[in-house]
Amino acid sequence: MAKADGQPQNDLNDSLKPDRNLAMELVRVTEAAAIAGGHWVGYGDKNRADGAAVDAMRKFMDTVRMNGVVVIGEGEKDEAPMLFNGENVGDGTGAEVDVAVDPIDGTRLTALGYNNALSVFAVAERGTMFDASSVFYMEKMVVGPEAAEMVDLRLPVKQNIHLLGKALNKPVSQLNICVLDRPRHEGLVREIREAGARVKFIMDGDVAGGIAAARHNTDVDMLLGTGGTPEGVVTACALKATGGMIQGRLAPTDDDEKQKAIDAGLDLDQVLTTNDLVRSDNCYFAATGITDGDLLRGVRYYNDRIVTQSIVMRSKSGTVRTVEAEHRTEKWPEWLPER
Ligand code: FBP
Repeated sequence: MAKADGQPQNDLNDSLKPDRNLAMELVRVTEAAAIAGGHWVGYGDKNRADGAAVDAMRKFMDTVRMNGVVVIGEGEKDEAPMLFNGENVGDGTGAEVDVAVDPIDGTRLTALGYNNALSVFAVAERGTMFDASSVFYMEKMVVGPEAAEMVDLRLPVKQNIHLLGKALNKPVSQLNICVLDRPRHEGLVREIREAGARVKFIMDGDVAGGIAAARHNTDVDMLLGTGGTPEGVVTACALKATGGMIQGRLAPTDDDEKQKAIDAGLDLDQVLTTNDLVRSDNCYFAATGITDGDLLRGVRYYNDRIVTQSIVMRSKSGTVRTVEAEHRTEKWPEWLPER
């Protein structure tokens, strides 16, 4: 549409779409959740850590200029503290968006002081994130941009690994395939090793694992295996900016879950692509390291300051920023109670 003076006129609807400034606002939210949750690293209490991260995330999220609805919450799987699906978040002004939260991806990693725990927050235009609330698990495959057009979840593992080697121009023996360490992956692990590649186990945190598979500066070449569906949607938001792709197939754990999924109109045989998981090309992703990991360094607490490292991405521009921030310890007493 053009104004009388010939200049383009912003459509009223444009003001309801998320704009570039949102990316930097989101990182403040994941920083806060990481600082609050990270205070409990190594204390053996995952609900305490998660609760602190959820509270901080909720409080800081409500200062973000957006009219958000949580469509991917966290916690239902293991009755941990959560941000509820359907909850309105943001300050209520600005863009109408779907919000996916994971105040701590890796609550157990946090409680036990292991690597790779992240605080994660993703946003996309309203109505564009996949809703799989009735099915908690999804089979996943994630690769970087070079292999995105070559591999396919429907192919045998061995074939995908050989295609990956070709795409990356690497011998199969040098490929690292990231897999959640779970008994359900026994067969998968055998297939990967028989194909000649290496398995890199992670105890938890397949968001970090998936993004690491898509990034060029890590030693992870592919992520395979079954993990959380919410984490799959969050990973898809990040991949829209970094390039690369995720494919997923819903994996209900029992007949009841299967029936709920069918009743909700979900196709259990469908291979869901990055675009199925997030339809919008206008999405945002922020993550802050809680413990050290392949992707980010964890929170460092000093007497006078706290140092965080985050990654912020915007799909429209494809910009990926690493943000290192220093926070004055004295400003955070609410989130750093006596232990
Ligand atoms: P939480 O920290 O939220 O519990 O999630 C950790 C995680 O490892 C995810 O990264 C992964 O997708 C999922 O749990 C796997 O589920 P499960 O532990 O039940 O195998």
